[in-house]
Amino acid sequence: MRYHHIPVMSEEAIYYLNCIPGNIYVDCTLGGSGHANAICKKIMPDGLLIGIDQDIDAIQNAKKVLKPFELNIHLFHSNFIHLPDLLNQLNIPAVDGILLDLGLSAHHLESSGRGFSFKRDEPLDMRMDITATITAKDIINTYKEKELSELFKRYGEERWASPIAKRIIKDRAHQRIKTSSQLADIISSVIPKRAALTRKIHPATRVFMALRIAVNKELERLDAFMENIPLLLKPKGRLCVISYHSLEDRIVKHWIKNLATECVCPKEIPKCICNRKKIVRSMTKKAVRPKEKEIELNPSARSAKLRAAEKISE
Ligand SMILES: C[S@@+](CC[C@H](N)C(=O)[O-])C[C@H]1O[C@@H](n2cnc3c(N)ncnc32)[C@H](O)[C@@H]1O
Repeated sequence: MRYHHIPVMSEEAIYYLNCIPGNIYVDCTLGGSGHANAICKKIMPDGLLIGIDQDIDAIQNAKKVLKPFELNIHLFHSNFIHLPDLLNQLNIPAVDGILLDLGLSAHHLESSGRGFSFKRDEPLDMRMDITATITAKDIINTYKEKELSELFKRYGEERWASPIAKRIIKDRAHQRIKTSSQLADIISSVIPKRAALTRKIHPATRVFMALRIAVNKELERLDAFMENIPLLLKPKGRLCVISYHSLEDRIVKHWIKNLATECVCPKEIPKCICNRKKIVRSMTKKAVRPKEKEIELNPSARSAKLRAAEKISE
């Protein structure tokens, strides 16, 4: 299997993670292992890398790409929400840096065969973890019209969500919708030609994105993960998150702000009584964006936003 993915904002991620030789880092989203490889080069020979991905293809690929560092890495086919348990298994109380590079890899779109792309005719699956139970086909063929329409609106910000949902219900009454091209054709037939022409993206982009986010429960899992950050980092440990969707970025921004907030007493109270302490310091007042040059070389980097935080020393 050839696993293709170009890592996004690699230099920036390494900078914010502060990769120090001998320290312990976690790459929660190995993908093509580009970031993991760059981290290993900085922290070896004595460092430790823990690598996680919910896609077994990414783990198989990591075993090859990270072979030169095999004595200093632990790889897990798992969801990053299980990081506290995985660290427990390894007897590691906390780590020096955690990286999340969210979303899809180019492998998912180009060669996974799981229907992530509207450009290919593949089974409508969209699971990053093929052991998960619900597929995109299940959602498309079982959700009620209102549920589909809300999903496309909420996660895809699709203007034509209601008519698309209506047409799906009508078409699936005759024949189950089983493939990515069947779904892409339905969407294209609903969006008026004039509206489609003014969009810079394929008519099916937003619905496919919404479905993928729902199948993989991407937002719920990110939110659950962020809650554990204070437990997972050592003092001075760093968190670096690269996101590609405004709702993901909103969750990351919210948690960093929340953990960086000191007093939450009402303004009328003259002296603090909540005694709340800052847990992290935000390192990125505004999200960091890829340089123009990077976007030119790798257009899939264009929507990336990087945020980072450092745990306050106790
Ligand atoms: C954008 S790619 C990462 C690319 C990687 N940084 C590189 O350098 O090639 C995102 C990866 O994260 C994985 N992923 C997404 N959500 C996950 C989760 N909740 N737990 C574990 N892996 C996840 C996906 O399967 C995918 O392989």
